[in-house]
Amino acid sequence: MARTHLIAGNWKMHLSPAEGRELVTSIASGLGGTTAEILVCPTALGIADAIAAAAGSKVQVGAQNCHWEVKGAFTGELSAELIQSAGCSHVLLGHSERRQFFHETDETVSQRLKAVLRAGLVPVLCIGETLSERESGQLETVLRQQITGALAGIDAAQLTQLVVAYEPVWAIGTGVVASTEQAQEAHAFVRSVLAGVLGDLANDLRILYGGSVKPGNAAELLAQPDIDGALVGGASLKAEDFLGIIAAA
Ligand code: 13P
Repeated sequence: MARTHLIAGNWKMHLSPAEGRELVTSIASGLGGTTAEILVCPTALGIADAIAAAAGSKVQVGAQNCHWEVKGAFTGELSAELIQSAGCSHVLLGHSERRQFFHETDETVSQRLKAVLRAGLVPVLCIGETLSERESGQLETVLRQQITGALAGIDAAQLTQLVVAYEPVWAIGTGVVASTEQAQEAHAFVRSVLAGVLGDLANDLRILYGGSVKPGNAAELLAQPDIDGALVGGASLKAEDFLGIIAAA
């Protein structure tokens, strides 16, 4: 079945609330008649302004992470319920920067994923291998582990909205994009692992590519049969670049 492209921007730790508001306003006014779904993920502080600026447009707003508890003594954290009450639709989970710098494991990603589902939000599960893992032949083992680890104990019936983002760590912020063949091959593999866990549902789920996506390489990536959108870092911070990627979808 046809899968609607999802073009998502991960702003990481960039842009003040006012800058984010301006960016969302520019994106919303430049969308034209795109059929793609559009998402931006500001910092926690920028969520409210982004939502205000996105009102009445196709732009959806998500968070970059969440805690697994509903509330409690967890200084500095945000629950999925708080994120939902702020008006967000999606939450990124298990981004490689969370795994690398904040000791995120498949187990904690799975706990967060359950919290996102509990709050009725759409999870965007990020997976991807490092260069040394790829070069030592562990690509498939790593991706399989990240997927099965995150989805362990969750019913397929709860995962009908799941989005997976394949982001090879070596392509993030480096300007080195995976070749279309490398990306398509990894996406097909990810879909096969999802099919093993979730059955036919895997054909309906979107798998986004992330890692140095730019207006100039987006069209070729997005034309691949198993690439259903993009998770964009650096190029999502400028309206012109992000709109260029949306136009390619
Ligand atoms: P870049 O597009 O800056 O490589 O970042 C990709 C990414 O990590 C999106 O989550």
